[in-house]
Amino acid sequence: MNLPFLSQDNLVVGVDIGSHAVKVCQLKRADNAYSIVTLGSVTLPEGAVDDGTLNDAEAVAKAISGLFANLKIKNKKVGFSISGYSVIVKKVNLAVMEEKKLEEHIMSEAEQYIPFDIEDVYLDYQDLKTNTDTIERTDVMLVAAKKEIVDDYLEMLKSINLIPVIVDVDGFALENTYEYSYPKVDNVALVDIGASKMNINILSGGISVVARDIVVGSRQLTEQLQSSFDLEFEEAEALKLGIIPAEDKQPQIEKIFSTTCTQWVLEIKKAIDLYHSNHPDAPLQKLVLSGGGSKVVGFADFLAKETSLEVEIFNPFAKMLSNDKKIDPEYLKNIGPEMAIATGIAIRPSVF
Ligand SMILES: Nc1ncnc2c1ncn2[C@@H]1O[C@H](COP(=O)(O)OP(=O)(O)OP(=O)(O)O)[C@@H](O)[C@H]1O
Ligand SMILES: [Mg+2]
Repeated sequence: MNLPFLSQDNLVVGVDIGSHAVKVCQLKRADNAYSIVTLGSVTLPEGAVDDGTLNDAEAVAKAISGLFANLKIKNKKVGFSISGYSVIVKKVNLAVMEEKKLEEHIMSEAEQYIPFDIEDVYLDYQDLKTNTDTIERTDVMLVAAKKEIVDDYLEMLKSINLIPVIVDVDGFALENTYEYSYPKVDNVALVDIGASKMNINILSGGISVVARDIVVGSRQLTEQLQSSFDLEFEEAEALKLGIIPAEDKQPQIEKIFSTTCTQWVLEIKKAIDLYHSNHPDAPLQKLVLSGGGSKVVGFADFLAKETSLEVEIFNPFAKMLSNDKKIDPEYLKNIGPEMAIATGIAIRPSVF
């Protein structure tokens, strides 16, 4: 017998709205794993999304509704994630308090922790419960997101009849997928390099200890190719991806790649150094790389050499089930790194 209320799946569709593309992932629970129902991505017009802000909500709405239609997704409940200047994630160390007390304390004291007017933000927090028998203080993760930015996303999604029920933060969604997908590694750096930003989230003992967004990404490469060779954006993008052969441009392309990738490595190293200076007894064991930027040929090896860490390209589907007849395994493998954030949102159970 099938009890409807028990079989009802309460997972949302994960929607990752990047500056280059929207990625969508729908999962369902299957025995002790997740199974992929459908997934896909669609590129956005240049400039439609920038630094986490919806500049052209209409174009983004159209892209998402087209993608939902193509993928024949019926579930209207979605989760999305935000990042960029409008979100502040901050860890504060507080005396251990009862839940109710903690909430009151945070609501009344938040202004001293975040640089925004409290009226202008949605505020959330999580007690990381780092207190021990001898230390009666605990770390609390605060998240403040600008209302006007979040509201733009909510409105845009509602305009295409979707029901947004979860608002996540890119770095945390990444952490969520990682925790599900990989056997426990205590100290790990998660790095997502997209088109215009890099999220770094370093976990120690399963707790996020360094979290930052940096404004670098694979679009930098496209823009430099554009100006070096006087190309249209699309042409430069195709040249970058090797769709247009490099021919005699090869040496100059390599120079552009190597300068930019060196900059990325420096940013990653800064975060790693900060981590190591705060946690000298818990060295990082691994770096897991995701986002379209992680696919730059040779970058993972370069990063491994420069950081002396094992670098792995994220496969968020490693532990998920998939029907090879419905989803081409080659496509799945290829899109995996870009899908890490959408997948992390898709495994968050909705409380509604
Ligand atoms: N093989 C590759 N080499 C270099 N760049 C690549 C490759 N494959 C994809 N990219 C780039 O990755 C970017 C897309 O990645 P992703 O979907 O993670 O970005 P996004 O989430 O839209 O951007 P962001 O998170 O920065 O807002 C594009 O700039 C694309 O050109
Ligand atoms: Mg992204």
